[in-house]
Parts: sequence; structure tokens; C-alpha cells
Amino acid sequence: MGVERTLLMIKPDGVRRGLVGEIISRFERKGLRIRALKMFRFTRSMAEEFYSMHRDKPFFESLINFITSGPVVAMVLEGDSAVCVVRNMIGPTDGREAPPGTIRGDYALSKSENVVHASDSVENAEREIGIVFSENEIF
Ligand code: CMP
Repeated sequence: MGVERTLLMIKPDGVRRGLVGEIISRFERKGLRIRALKMFRFTRSMAEEFYSMHRDKPFFESLINFITSGPVVAMVLEGDSAVCVVRNMIGPTDGREAPPGTIRGDYALSKSENVVHASDSVENAEREIGIVFSENEIF
């Protein structure tokens, strides 16, 4: 536990639907610090590296097609137990099962187009932050 950093990403559906400000403000109001923030579009190879743990899953191809379909907004969030806190705030993967009050519970009705992604461990956070941000983009 203690102070951690995690990667939070607003997926192409969240950006298309104009949810960027609403989502960022939830984390700011919670007290998490934004250490890095940018909008970009995944290349195919970058997306395949980011989601490499899902390479053998049946949904891998559609996941890569979706995540490269438009710009995303990614940020590094820092705070006490940030990995677990942010995962709890976004809710379970499937928007149909995510409880109201969570981001997916409030804004998603799908398992694939589920508005946001967040790192599931401190180790994965380090890996994902390293893929998305260079050292001089983190403050
Ligand atoms: P995310 O938190 O970004 O991590 C992996 C993503 O794969 C997940 O959110 C979903 O968007 C997607 N995903 C997981 N399971 C499925 C599934 N059964 N069908 C389609 N997409 C899925």
C-alpha cells in the first residue's frame, strides 16, 4: 500500500461521447493527483503491446480494432492505494454489471466499449505508464 501511481485511460467511446471532463473531475475530486495527461491515438503495434496479456483471448482482435478507432485520453494518477482506489471507482469490466456510482456503472452498457481502462496492479501500472508516457511527460 502507500502512495502508488496508476494509469487511467478514457477509451475512444468515452472521448467520442464527450465524457472526458466528467471523468477527470471525478478523480480530482477524490483527491488523486494528475502526474501526466495526454490525448493520442494508439498505433496497432502499440495497442498490441499494451494489451499483450490478452493476445490469446477470442476478443483480442476486436479489442485492438476498438482501442485504435479514435483518440484516447490517458493519465497517470497518484495517491494512497491509487491502483485499488481507481479500480473501485471505474467498476467491473461489464458496464451492465457495474454498480451505479462507478464510472462504468453510470456510463457503460457493454463489456467491450466500457469507457475507461485502469491498471490492475502496481506492476502493470509501471508497464502501462512506460508504454504511454516518456519520463519527461510525468510530473
Ligand atoms: P480493460 O480494462 O481495458 O482490459 C481489457 C479489455 O478487454 C476490457 O477492459 C474490455 O474492454 C475488453 N474485454 C474483456 N473481456 C471482453 C469480452 N468478453 N468481450 C469483449 N471485450 C472484452
